[in-house]
Amino acid sequence: MDATRKGHETVSRLSNSSVERDIANYLHPYTNLKTHQETGPVVITRGEGVRVFDEAGKSYIEGMSGLWCTALGFNQKPLIDAAMREMNRLPFYHGFGGKSHDVGIDLAEKLLELAPVPMSKVFFGNSGSEANDTAIKIIWYMNNALERPEKKKIISRDKAYHGVTVATASLTGLTYVHQDFDLPIDNILHTGCPHYYRYAEPGESEEEYGARCAKNLEKLILAEGADTIAAFFAEPVMGAGGVLVPPKGYFAKVQEILTRHDILFVADEVICGFGRTGKMFGCETFDLRPDMITVAKALSSGYLPISALFISEEIFQCLVSESEKIGIFGHGHTYGGHPVSCAVALETLKIYEEIHILDHVRKLAPRLQDGLAALGGHELAGEARGVGLVGALELVEDKETKRSFAPELAVAARVAKAAEERGVILRSLGDAIAIAPPLIIKEGEIDEILAVLGAALDQVAGELPG
Ligand SMILES: Cc1ncc(COP(=O)(O)O)c(C=O)c1O
Repeated sequence: MDATRKGHETVSRLSNSSVERDIANYLHPYTNLKTHQETGPVVITRGEGVRVFDEAGKSYIEGMSGLWCTALGFNQKPLIDAAMREMNRLPFYHGFGGKSHDVGIDLAEKLLELAPVPMSKVFFGNSGSEANDTAIKIIWYMNNALERPEKKKIISRDKAYHGVTVATASLTGLTYVHQDFDLPIDNILHTGCPHYYRYAEPGESEEEYGARCAKNLEKLILAEGADTIAAFFAEPVMGAGGVLVPPKGYFAKVQEILTRHDILFVADEVICGFGRTGKMFGCETFDLRPDMITVAKALSSGYLPISALFISEEIFQCLVSESEKIGIFGHGHTYGGHPVSCAVALETLKIYEEIHILDHVRKLAPRLQDGLAALGGHELAGEARGVGLVGALELVEDKETKRSFAPELAVAARVAKAAEERGVILRSLGDAIAIAPPLIIKEGEIDEILAVLGAALDQVAGELPG
């Protein structure tokens, strides 16, 4: 420990470059910390439209909208102005103990107007994790109000992503989010990941496969006892798991099972919400009727932290009675519904309407999806998939058998790196390369992303052994 620390101090004294100061001081999320000490960071200093620039002035198209969030790109003046105005007017207030503020009221009202199914109330947090964590707590609280103390287990799916708090990381279905963090916690269960290309049996149709996945969910419910299962969480399109579009018929069957067993459905719209799939919510694209919805990211185009949890009237009434019994609804975040974040979110939603963002996404979606489908023919590609302005290319060693590359070859990560060197930021998610550009992207910029991805694939194909 001492030696390492000393080493870093030496580095800091020798050079003041941001790379070295980063390595010396900054603990990075979702990063291989060992490798990072050798490779260092890519330091981004500014953004413009769909592009960001590093400290050497190199330009990159942000093909992932940062972390699936900057839907309006990187220099929307009205969002900056909205933040400045609110910062000058009310730089902080909260909703604890019945206090409120007008921008929070306006935003809650606006969100309920937009909700894809009738919802009753909105609770504000600062991140997707907080929204999902609150959903879990509310579900437990509600079942205590209903005197169903056994009905507490929550089901999510392998490869799901719902966050990183203790409870939401438990819901997340990715091994590296659990491993050595002593997760998942009790009462969290995982059912199979519905990925037709990867997990269907030979000869099984997409509908048959979707029905089988739903049946597996029901088997789990019955094995545990439906009276012990409180809720099921799902992203309409699974994001961090590899951009997995649900198989045909899957959600219809899942919803029928949930209703039959009196299990709540929580739709995690943190990535899909606000136009990503071509409709305002993924719930509309896939005909979902959830009891709760969580949103974040594009709610403020990523400009400031804010998330929201929508709850139905039935759930709200349970919270009312339980809080009356206890004397308080004992939950809330200091910065939840921060007025500056609310003002930026309101402005973001206004811009989506003004520029007809949904029409734009639907108009450009074929350009991205057809381009990806064409790249699906590349020798390294197994499946091209996506909807709206989100997609992925799954890389395989053998197209015929769908055999994956050995993980140590890190093929997808190498393709993402090769694209980055060519000025396009994409993200490798396991064996897949994901694309989720700002929704304001133009056709020529989509073409640029696809051309760079093609060149990156060629480069890595040329580097792979025989
Ligand atoms: C679908 C989904 N849910 C929840 C989260 C967690 O959000 P946050 O990172 O803001 O906590 C994410 C983050 O990527 C996400 O993609």
